[in-house]
Amino acid sequence: MATTVSIHGMWSTRLAFILAAAGSAVGLGNIWRFPYTAGEYGGGAFVLVYLLCVAGIGIPIMMAEILLGRRGRQSPINTMRTLAEREGKPVAWSLLGWMGILAGFLILSFYSVIAGWTLAYAVRAAGGAFTGIDATASKAMFDGLVGDGERLLAWHTIFMVMTVMVVARGVASGLEQSVKWMMPALFVLLLVMVVYAGWAGDLGAAVRYLFAPDFARLQEKGGEAILSAMGQAFFSLSLGMGAIMVYGSYLRHDASIARSTVMIAATDTTVALLAGLAIFPMVFAHGLEPGSGPGLIFVTLPIAFGEMPGGALFGTLFFALLVVAAWTSSISILEPVSAWLVENRGFSRVRAAIIGGAGAWLLGIVCLLSLNHWSEYEVAGKGVLDLFDYLTANILLPLGGILIAIFAGWVLPRAATLDELGGTDRPGYRLWRFLIRYVAPAAVALVLLNGIGLFKAIGLA
Ligand code: TRP
Repeated sequence: MATTVSIHGMWSTRLAFILAAAGSAVGLGNIWRFPYTAGEYGGGAFVLVYLLCVAGIGIPIMMAEILLGRRGRQSPINTMRTLAEREGKPVAWSLLGWMGILAGFLILSFYSVIAGWTLAYAVRAAGGAFTGIDATASKAMFDGLVGDGERLLAWHTIFMVMTVMVVARGVASGLEQSVKWMMPALFVLLLVMVVYAGWAGDLGAAVRYLFAPDFARLQEKGGEAILSAMGQAFFSLSLGMGAIMVYGSYLRHDASIARSTVMIAATDTTVALLAGLAIFPMVFAHGLEPGSGPGLIFVTLPIAFGEMPGGALFGTLFFALLVVAAWTSSISILEPVSAWLVENRGFSRVRAAIIGGAGAWLLGIVCLLSLNHWSEYEVAGKGVLDLFDYLTANILLPLGGILIAIFAGWVLPRAATLDELGGTDRPGYRLWRFLIRYVAPAAVALVLLNGIGLFKAIGLA
């Protein structure tokens, strides 16, 4: 039967698990990626599709990831192998873990580069660099940073070291101790930002933009927009690569997975919407463009901060908030591979974190060079950083999600999942089982194939 504890340690309480998983989920995905992606696809209708993906696909898959992790009690690779062996199924299921490690390296490499931008901007805001800045100057400031490979390397390195430092200290004294104070700080900062934006910006316009669906724009972008909404849900909830699975492996057996998942997903979604309510009021009050892409918060927000009362202080707070959010996420991306290195290579925790972090750091250098010295090299019209972002969120994570759903819904016996999800066969359990067996795999597969243009290519759409 399932071992009761992990060799890596355990969360001390269910709340610690929820904070850690919410810390993983809440990150650049919510505050940087969600607003600009919603902006690119026209606002409200995208948000609606996103919410449907979180509820119908994200929540059941998150429950599946946590329960697999808790039954296996190891890194995702070994968890999948152990669980498959126990059911007499091919050990090739451990490939799911390997795919997650690959996705993790790709994500962490560009994630750390973007987190580096937020570090740079926190320092700039504190130094008063935004005061009186206009659109041209702000664009020039952003281009100046992104075009400066050495500067990007310095910030990327600092952020990766921060990440490695936490993971090196282990589950109890590293991960748990840091989320315990960072998550509350993050909520307070975010609330301050929303109140400030509502007071100094155009809250009404932001609310209309985020919540009044414009289906024309969504239809015009078609399958690509739906795939982006689903990819955003996977990315934002940290699903499909084993981060939530490894966090689940440190969760006590008596804690409710369903209730924890609802809290984590609700927190993540609330933060994404609040981030929109902190950002768009400032964007609209200053007549700026909501659909301006990845530069949205870095180019448009400084203009707004530069004009508003207390802008230097609140600008600093905003970018500090982003750093904290990114930090509690990046540790969860590094954790699966670190756990695996400890289990299979006999590394100490410190050595494992350093080796894993160094790998992502090297790959990150390729990402940051793709923004300047190597910007002429493109694959499918995208530089390396954009390509890693697109490939992971829109392809690898959904694929991982399908496999997790199939494993939890079809490979594991009903009794095993029932045992993890409370032991009594209630309607809630039957709903989960229906979603994980049929709805989630089919919906993710359809959205994925449609989004990459397969149906169009074979003349079905
Ligand atoms: N969810 C985080 C964010 O929104 C990023 C993240 C952390 C992640 N762990 C992950 C994304 C695992 C995919 C998979 O910023």
